Amino acid sequence: MTSARGCFITFEGVEGAGKSSNLAWTAELLRANQIEVLITREPGGTPFAEAIRDLLLRDQPEPVAPATELLLIFAARAQHIAQVIEPALAAGKWVLCDRFTDATYAYQGGGRGLPQAHIATLEQLVQGALRPDRTLLFDLPVAEGLRRAGKRGALDRFEREEQAFFERIREHYLARQQAEPARFSLIDAAAPLDEVRERVQQVIDDIVRGYATGAAS
Ligand SMILES: Nc1ncnc2c1ncn2[C@@H]1O[C@H](COP(=O)(O)OP(=O)(O)OP(=O)(O)O)[C@@H](O)[C@H]1O
Ligand SMILES: [Mg+2]
Repeated sequence: MTSARGCFITFEGVEGAGKSSNLAWTAELLRANQIEVLITREPGGTPFAEAIRDLLLRDQPEPVAPATELLLIFAARAQHIAQVIEPALAAGKWVLCDRFTDATYAYQGGGRGLPQAHIATLEQLVQGALRPDRTLLFDLPVAEGLRRAGKRGALDRFEREEQAFFERIREHYLARQQAEPARFSLIDAAAPLDEVRERVQQVIDDIVRGYATGAAS
């Protein structure tokens, strides 16, 4: 018997919003439901794609053109999908991914000002029909996110951007959530961690129930 295709869930939001902490929590919740889970992240997720991530995050001795950044992100994504995401979903695993293409629309589109249409073209080229089944968007004021992220130490090439860059990113994320309310779950990440976790648990219970119903019908 072939197993049903897994569910592809992505975690999005500005710096320090709580994506990684809540992804780990989600994996625990799913495993408690006897669901096989694969955790991964973007940019990266394979050795080759992680090498591209390193290039993207490290300070460079010359300005990096926005189009260079965009193409590298999609190059890493193509590798990640081929090597990790697609095989896992096909094997029935649920894939939890820390950032995906919504982050490209938000950061390279909103933040860097690249045309959405160019991103959409690459999305089609690299992903074909692959889109996240569900996306958790962790939203909080930019200053609070940067404060939380800043506690971790050295800043990367993105984290060093001015606040207005992150405000544009937040707005783009929220606009995407409003355009696709069925896929997105908006989570108020400014709340205390235990409240955020409760909300994540509700969202995940809802997804698991939906899958169980879908499989039975
Ligand atoms: N609801 C919360 N209230 C207070 N602190 C939180 C909350 N959620 C997460 N944190 C803390 O904020 C910091 C950033 O959280 P986390 O690393 O999960 O965010 P992130 O969205 O993955 O960040 P990045 O974009 O930088 O990867 C961590 O130190 C985490 O413990
Ligand atoms: Mg993180």
